[in-house]
Amino acid sequence: MEAKKLIVGNWKMNPATLKEAEELARRTDADSKRLKNVEVVVAPPFPFLTDVRRMAKNIKLAAQDVSWEEQGAFTGEVSPTMLLNLNVEYVIVGHSERRAMGEGDEVINKKCSAARRHGLNVILCVGESIDIRRKGFGAAKKFVEKQILEGLKGIEKGKDGNEGEVVIAYEPLWAVGTGTADSPDDAVIMICFIKSILDSILRTSHSRVLYGGSVTPENARGFLENGEIDGALIGRISLKFEAFGKILKILG
Ligand code: PGA
Repeated sequence: MEAKKLIVGNWKMNPATLKEAEELARRTDADSKRLKNVEVVVAPPFPFLTDVRRMAKNIKLAAQDVSWEEQGAFTGEVSPTMLLNLNVEYVIVGHSERRAMGEGDEVINKKCSAARRHGLNVILCVGESIDIRRKGFGAAKKFVEKQILEGLKGIEKGKDGNEGEVVIAYEPLWAVGTGTADSPDDAVIMICFIKSILDSILRTSHSRVLYGGSVTPENARGFLENGEIDGALIGRISLKFEAFGKILKILG
């Protein structure tokens, strides 16, 4: 059976108020009702997770980050167990905005391992800069392969013994938040390459690979109707429930 497409709304540090977050969650949840072939996940900021959870009947929850520590003197961190307490099922790890704040592959690997140890599904974000892409697909593939191999070290071939899904979000840096999406054809080249890496390093057969970076209702069809692309990680548009709803309709 083919896996459902996965649409993840990454709210980032938005919206500003709880009231807005509740409204966004309510509308997104309503738009996700009766969608048979799609799994809809939203990633609100940590303080809104509890309230969004109350609204979430048809959507699942993701966290935007996770600590690799269990508990203790780690100011500002949130542990996998805390997230599980809130019914969070997915965690985004290695988003380009966190990498830009200095998060490296080693830390990302620890977070992926900790999340999986607790049974959380990981959404590992990877993607090359514009300078690398300009050098050609060879350079872009090499870069992305390194990010995946380092990020999933110890997880390969189910070595960690955990069963949670490892989703990869391919997000070329130059497309994230810029309004300039990759072309579906070029994204497919990278996504097929990523699948070939996952096939050789993971034992699980159900790893989905998403596209992310300036997905809009206007360009979404090109990505989502392509059989190789298993869904999308959507930032800016996930804050606009009408536009986000239009994207969901393409799949519904
Ligand atoms: P964007 O963000 O859709 O606003 O480009 C994507 C992301 O940050 O994952």
